[in-house]
Amino acid sequence: MAQPRILILGAPGAGKGTQSAKIIEAFDVDHITTGDALRNNKEMDISDMDTEYDTPGEYMDQGELVPDEVVNAIVDEALSQADGFVLDGYPRNLEQAEELEDMTDLDLALYLEVGEEELVHRLTGRRMDPETGDIYHVEYNPPEDPEVEERLVQRDDDTEETVRERLSVFHENTEPVIEYYDEQGDLERVDGEQAPDEVWEDVKATIEDAA
Ligand code: AP5
Repeated sequence: MAQPRILILGAPGAGKGTQSAKIIEAFDVDHITTGDALRNNKEMDISDMDTEYDTPGEYMDQGELVPDEVVNAIVDEALSQADGFVLDGYPRNLEQAEELEDMTDLDLALYLEVGEEELVHRLTGRRMDPETGDIYHVEYNPPEDPEVEERLVQRDDDTEETVRERLSVFHENTEPVIEYYDEQGDLERVDGEQAPDEVWEDVKATIEDAA
């Protein structure tokens, strides 16, 4: 498998972004992430789509899903330009999973399993470096350089209230997607509660096994 087509699934905070960064480096594939794409277009005017809110940012700041029409177009465009990829943050409901089937085939669907309280702890302690995009955690993975530490920022949707809403949206909308891939026999589960390097060992081995 020269250029694998990998789907990474998991609840908010399961470590999809952390592991995707390692996958793109080791396997030389594109990172297609709807979360980052939407954060870069938070103010985009979507009022002509007959949506409840006028911009993606209004959905995101409340922990709700951005309308499928907006997200499907982002993924379709990104997939058309990628040979191999790790797809992170999509599909998040069954309608999106059906759309994805029409867009591309997958070599592997990976599911990072992490318990609820650990997810809340990870997300409320997450910090981002606005200059490099690197992800840190105040307790599990603080930066060594004090200059980096000073410029870290917290994502708008990482407050405890919004995190709880994102987790409830995950249970309602995205868990059926995981069952969908499981029923098709395409799902590989990885214990996401281990330390990041141990998770990576399992992720890497699972991708290599699928080759
Ligand atoms: P998105 O950006 O996709 O967020 P998410 O799915 O909620 O996932 P996160 O990025 O929060 O977590 P992650 O799993 O990547 O964890 P990370 O590696 O950072 O989506 C945001 C919003 O955009 C949605 O709410 C929605 O509004 C919208 N959206 C996106 N896609 C959409 C779609 N398809 N349809 C509709 N709307 C969409 O790790 C988290 C923290 O834990 C970090 O601090 C990290 O350092 C730490 N950590 C990671 N791994 C470990 C470990 N093994 N041990 C200890 N700490 C760890």
